[in-house]
Amino acid sequence: MTCGADELRDYYANIIDSVGDGVLVTDKKGVITLMNPAAEELTGISRRQVQGHPFRLPFRDSPILVDMVERTAATGMNISDYENVVLMTGDHPTPVSAATSPLIVGSGERIGVILILRDLTNVRELERAVRQTDRLSSLGTLAAGLAHEIKNPLGGIKGAAQLLERELSDDSEMREYTRIMLKEVTRVNRIVEELLALTSPRKLKPEAVNLHRIIGDLCTFQRRAVAERMVVIQQQFDPSIPPFLADEELLTQLFLNLIKNAIEAVGEVGLIRIVTRVHADYRMTQEGARRTRMVAVEISDDGPGIPKEQQEQLFTPFFTTKATGTGLGLAICQKIVSEHRGLLKLQSTPGKGTVFTVMLPLVQ
Ligand SMILES: Nc1ncnc2c1ncn2[C@@H]1O[C@H](COP(=O)(O)OP(=O)(O)OP(=O)(O)O)[C@@H](O)[C@H]1O
Ligand SMILES: [Mg+2]
Repeated sequence: MTCGADELRDYYANIIDSVGDGVLVTDKKGVITLMNPAAEELTGISRRQVQGHPFRLPFRDSPILVDMVERTAATGMNISDYENVVLMTGDHPTPVSAATSPLIVGSGERIGVILILRDLTNVRELERAVRQTDRLSSLGTLAAGLAHEIKNPLGGIKGAAQLLERELSDDSEMREYTRIMLKEVTRVNRIVEELLALTSPRKLKPEAVNLHRIIGDLCTFQRRAVAERMVVIQQQFDPSIPPFLADEELLTQLFLNLIKNAIEAVGEVGLIRIVTRVHADYRMTQEGARRTRMVAVEISDDGPGIPKEQQEQLFTPFFTTKATGTGLGLAICQKIVSEHRGLLKLQSTPGKGTVFTVMLPLVQ
C-alpha cells in the first residue's frame, strides 16, 4: 500500500475504532490519549470527556483497572485477561475481562499502556444457564424415580375414591369427603406429571412455528381469564420474525407459564407487555459451529418484582411463594429454553416489576 502519513494515520485509527473490544491507551504518566467507541460503550464514558485526563480519575471506582495500568506503566509487564472486573455502565453493571500491555515504540522505549476491555455479559449468561441445567439434571434422576413410584399408588387411591363415591347415596354428607379426596389426588397427579415432564428427557419435535400465532392465541385465552380484573395484556410483535424451527407444544407451555406468572404477579390491576424482536447482534454458536440470529421475547409486568436474594432460587424446582403453586413452572421453562439452545433471562426491580426474556435461536 502506498499512502501518505495522514492516510496511514486514518487507516490505523479506523482499525482501532472498528475493534469490537474496548481499547484505551494512556501515555507514560497515565494520561488517557485514546479510547475507541467500544471502550466508550463499555465504560459509559465519552472519550471527549476524558482524553487528556489522568486515567485514575474517571476509573476511580475500578481500582483493579487503575492498579493494572499503573503496574504495567511501572514494570512494562503484560497483565492478561483479568476476569473479575465489573464496570458500572450507566446504572447497570457490566462484567468485563481486562488486559494491559506496554505500548512500545520502535526504539524499544515504553511510551504508555494499552488497556483492552472485553464484554463478558453473554459469557456470564451462558455460564448461569449451564449452572441451572446442571442443578436440574442432578435433581432429575432422584425426582424421576420418586415420581414413578408415586404414580401407581396414586392411581389406586383415585380408583378407590371413585368406587366409594359410587357406593354413596346422592345426598350423603360423605360425598364431600370423596370430592376432596379426588380433588387432592388430581393435584398431586399434576405435580407428579410436571415433575416427570421436567426430569425425563423428551425428544424435541421441531417444526416451523409461527411464534406470533402461539403468543397471540395465549394472550386471547388469558385475556378472558382476567376479564373481571383491571389487567391489560399488550402485545407488540416484530413483523420481520419468520417461521422458525421449534417444538410448538413446548413453546406454548413455556409462554403460558411465563404469562401466567405475570398475571399472578400483578393481581387485580396491572399491565403485562409481550414484545418480540430479532436480536441481530446476539448470535449463538450452534452445533457444527454455525452462527444464528436470536429471537427475543420479553414478558414484562408491573407487579411487585422479585427480591434480589430470591432471584437465583426461582428456577429451582419446588421454589414457590404461592399457596397453591407447585414451583415447577419456571424450572420447566428453563428446561424448554435450554432444550431449544436458548437463554432465559430475568430482570426484576422490587417495587417496579419483572421482565423475563426468552432468547431462541432463529433456526430455519
Ligand atoms: N412475574 C413474576 N413476578 C414476581 N414473582 C414471580 C414472577 N414469576 C415468578 N415469580 C416468583 O417465582 C416463583 C416460582 O415461579 P414458578 O412459576 O416456578 O412457580 P409458581 O408460579 O409458584 O407455581 P406454578 O407455576 O406451578 O403455578 C413464584 O412463586 C413467584 O414467587
Ligand atoms: Mg408459575
